[in-house]
Amino acid sequence: METVLFTTDIQNSLAEVLRARSYSKVVVLTDVNTREHCLPLIQDALLSDVLHITVPAGEQHKTLETCSIIWTAMTEAVLDRQALVINLGGGVIGDMGGFCASVYKRGIPFLTIPTTLLSQVDASVGGKLGIDFMGFKNHLGVFQLPEKVLIAPAFLATLPQRELRSGYAEVIKHGLIRDVVFFRALPSKDWEQQDWTRVIRHSVGIKKAVVEVDPKEAGLRKILNFGHSIGHAVESFYLTSSNPLLHGEAIALGMIAEGFLSFEKIGLSFEELNELSHKLLQVFGKVDLNTENLDAILDLCAQDKKNEGNTQLFSLLPTLGDCSFNIPVTPEEIKHAIIYYQQLHLA
Ligand SMILES: NC(=O)c1ccc[n+]([C@@H]2O[C@H](COP(=O)([O-])OP(=O)(O)OC[C@H]3O[C@@H](n4cnc5c(N)ncnc54)[C@H](O)[C@@H]3O)[C@@H](O)[C@H]2O)c1
Ligand SMILES: [Zn+2]
Repeated sequence: METVLFTTDIQNSLAEVLRARSYSKVVVLTDVNTREHCLPLIQDALLSDVLHITVPAGEQHKTLETCSIIWTAMTEAVLDRQALVINLGGGVIGDMGGFCASVYKRGIPFLTIPTTLLSQVDASVGGKLGIDFMGFKNHLGVFQLPEKVLIAPAFLATLPQRELRSGYAEVIKHGLIRDVVFFRALPSKDWEQQDWTRVIRHSVGIKKAVVEVDPKEAGLRKILNFGHSIGHAVESFYLTSSNPLLHGEAIALGMIAEGFLSFEKIGLSFEELNELSHKLLQVFGKVDLNTENLDAILDLCAQDKKNEGNTQLFSLLPTLGDCSFNIPVTPEEIKHAIIYYQQLHLA
């Protein structure tokens, strides 16, 4: 398992990591936003002959084309296998930069410095790396661990509020699947103003504990997919719309719909379902899912990577704070779950 290091002094922590081994060259991969907002926070820890590679920001650039730009820059700089890549950014940079480092000359070491809440509590931990291909999310990828993950909440100061909220969905998910006390303590009002250091530590702890038991997703790791079966389908559906949903926004919706399936199928109580739905609606509001889009969303559910054969296998909650996996769900049941979401009202 990777070493996750929390720090309130990222400059110093990074300098220490860089001093611990002698690298032939250090590469810093950023996107245009993290170059502007995050690079200044680590600049002084870097030596002067660092190679900077900056790519466009956003999921639509998590592609083979962008990898090609990265590999070209690495090759032109004659990087050898003693070089280090520092991935400074959100989940897109973490997944893609890690992937590029892992296959360049059969793999060179890399460091992950996650700069979004989502990447700090989720994407940076667990060794899944990859890129999107032909419109399929994370279609090409590998499992590979970074040298270290350095988590510094200071980066969140410049993160747009909507991005912060997107990451908050994964924090809430970690509570729902593993720790009801943590879930209940998470605020739905003024949630932006919480003690992020404490929340991130706890949330990463949950993810790490799950992944350590089941690194390659043979079983238990599937519980991290709660909310993601329907959530991913909705996210994919809106990907091409004029106002796409952020990952966490789609997952919040997915958790409500899959909460309903948990109630219908495996004994989540009605009170617990209401509690879950209420908190998520308070934080995320309601997405206006048009009824005429239902079939398209159901089709997308059927294409999910997590399906085995024709059966759709979901991770559902028997009670808040616990999650079961491999529960077969029919398209008709998914339809009902989405209809449940549609008829909810904001309190
Ligand atoms: N590997 C995994 O286990 C795993 C888990 C969950 C998600 N993911 C992946 O993570 C990606 C989503 O990650 P994300 O939400 O971090 O998206 P992202 O990397 O696109 O970052 C979101 C936006 O915030 C900007 N940004 C990042 N840090 C900033 C900062 N500190 N200040 C200002 N702007 C900043 C980025 O430039 C980008 O525009 C998806 O591709 C998803 O597939 C991977
Ligand atoms: Zn997610």
